[in-house]
Amino acid sequence: MSSRHQRRFPLTLASVLLLFLSLAPFAPSPVLPQTTNPVPPPENHWLGASLDWNADSPLNFSRRIGRASLIYMWFMANPIEDGAFEYLKTKVLREPFPENGVLVITMEPIAGLDKVDAAEIANIVKVCKTLNDANISVLLRFAHEMNGDWYAWGIKPALYRQTFAAVATGVHAGAPKTAMLWSPNIGVTYPYGARSPATPGSADFIELDTNNDGVVDVNDDPYGPFWPGDQYVDWVGMSLYWTGSPFGQNTIPFAEDFFNSIHGRDPQSGVKMSTPDFYSNYSVSKNKPFIVTETGAMHVEGRPGPGELEIKKAWWSQTVTQAALTAFPMMKGMLLYEVTVLAPREFNTSVNISYAYTLNQTIRDPFVADLPYDLYTWGPLVYSRHSAHFSATAFAGYEIDPTPGPINGTIAAVVNAQPKSTSTSTARTSATATSAAGVAGSSSGSMKPGAGSSVMARDWKSTAAVLFAALLAVVVVVA
Ligand SMILES: *[C@@H]1O[C@H](CO)[C@@H](O)[C@H](O)[C@H]1NC(C)=O
Ligand SMILES: *[C@@H]1O[C@H](CO)[C@@H](O)[C@H](O)[C@H]1NC(C)=O
Ligand SMILES: *[C@@H]1O[C@H](CO)[C@@H](O)[C@H](O)[C@H]1NC(C)=O
Ligand SMILES: *[C@@H]1O[C@H](CO)[C@@H](O)[C@H](O)[C@H]1NC(C)=O
Ligand SMILES: *[C@@H]1O[C@H](CO)[C@@H](O)[C@H](O)[C@H]1NC(C)=O
Ligand SMILES: *[C@@H]1O[C@H](CO)[C@@H](O)[C@H](O)[C@H]1NC(C)=O
Ligand SMILES: *[C@@H]1O[C@H](CO)[C@@H](O)[C@H](O)[C@H]1NC(C)=O
Repeated sequence: MSSRHQRRFPLTLASVLLLFLSLAPFAPSPVLPQTTNPVPPPENHWLGASLDWNADSPLNFSRRIGRASLIYMWFMANPIEDGAFEYLKTKVLREPFPENGVLVITMEPIAGLDKVDAAEIANIVKVCKTLNDANISVLLRFAHEMNGDWYAWGIKPALYRQTFAAVATGVHAGAPKTAMLWSPNIGVTYPYGARSPATPGSADFIELDTNNDGVVDVNDDPYGPFWPGDQYVDWVGMSLYWTGSPFGQNTIPFAEDFFNSIHGRDPQSGVKMSTPDFYSNYSVSKNKPFIVTETGAMHVEGRPGPGELEIKKAWWSQTVTQAALTAFPMMKGMLLYEVTVLAPREFNTSVNISYAYTLNQTIRDPFVADLPYDLYTWGPLVYSRHSAHFSATAFAGYEIDPTPGPINGTIAAVVNAQPKSTSTSTARTSATATSAAGVAGSSSGSMKPGAGSSVMARDWKSTAAVLFAALLAVVVVVA
């Protein structure tokens, strides 16, 4: 967002006018519903969250917003370890999860795309099918943010497309309620440094240099080289945060940042960039429902500038409100990043960064007061009895108060809810590490701050010690 490499345009009266005039043509009529989508979009919109699963839960998130949210994010590493799969089953199948809910699985091929062979694809299908058999739909967000260089699977367009297609073929054949979710990082600050680190002359470089001018920079297409093909993609997604301007500073989001970025416009001025219009090209014209897979506004504890509430309110006001839903009718889902992380190393200081809206009541109350509940699709009031692992009585009491929304900021009470304690096991611990690392890595990758992003992501992942620190650093404040 605030990259020193990002192009800036003066915010002139003309550009403001242009922005205004441009709003109307950007409300195309959606061609939903899609009968062939393994996970059809909801009638309205899903609103859910990425959680720190070790300390938080779908039930807790739902209690915080006063509605049964239907969709949650899970990070999982490839190759899939038995312990990680057990941990997922514990959290999603053996603890309350909404009936007919959706799990977005971010599948991270941390050992490289070439390790995703037939046997590993069979493992991926098994995980998805296990959830599908319990009536949980899956959006498989395979190898996300592949257009950034901070992950092992980044900026390898040919291998990425081939692997995504192979995973899609396996999943479509073997997991009936699993959809493939193609989810790059927001492209307006591509390639997240002045020049891409892709090796000049390599086959990948030649593909990435979409305008054939001998460099891979902001003028190249950040999405097209990574498109696996229409038949392999069911949903399209995007990571899009407010991370301050300059990056890491507490500042108020640009008024139309969300709208502009998704349309390939300069986030601040709204002037069209050469970056393609993601929403029009990949969601509307391909008739794929769109989900914002990671979003939130960064607030850095203790730094000067506007307060946390001001920053976050300015972000949710342009992302979850009626205006945003109207501007993006194909945007059928959004996952809030409801996690607090320790600042990346490049901050040179140990501080907490929070993207969350609901963890702190001071922020949550105004958030729920602004949330247009009626425009979203919520789950049943009683949390799931889908699991054969449990007797029906195991879920007794996990009920969300049916009284209509906490419109005035009061969080709806929960009837008798006393979440069960979970057993601690080595499987849980190791799987949590995987999950937390995924969250940390993903977050830093998604901050799209330019060159620093990749450095940050590599730092986070460089040693086991850092990984462990990342795990410890994922702190959730349950108010
Ligand atoms: C959920 O919230 C309760 C009460 O606020 C808390 O005790 C519990 O640790 C939270 N986490 C989980 C995983 O339920
Ligand atoms: C995006 O769509 C526009 C038309 O809306 C088209 O001109 C352009 O070529 C498309 N770009 C890509 C990369 O698909
Ligand atoms: C909640 O957020 C407010 C506003 O940023 C802050 O003053 C307060 O310390 C936070 N509370 C907790 C428990 O973190
Ligand atoms: C952090 O430290 C590095 C190395 O000393 C320095 O280059 C960088 O400017 C510092 N960053 C900030 C935000 O102070
Ligand atoms: C981060 O927040 C947690 C929970 O509020 C707190 O215990 C911890 O000390 C904070 N860490 C830093 C470095 O401020
Ligand atoms: C899945 O949903 C169907 C239709 O609602 C229901 O008949 C079936 O019992 C459910 N299966 C499980 C495992 O919950
Ligand atoms: C908010 O709603 C609760 C529950 O309906 C009610 O008791 C309370 O008086 C309301 N507060 C305000 C400020 O309207």
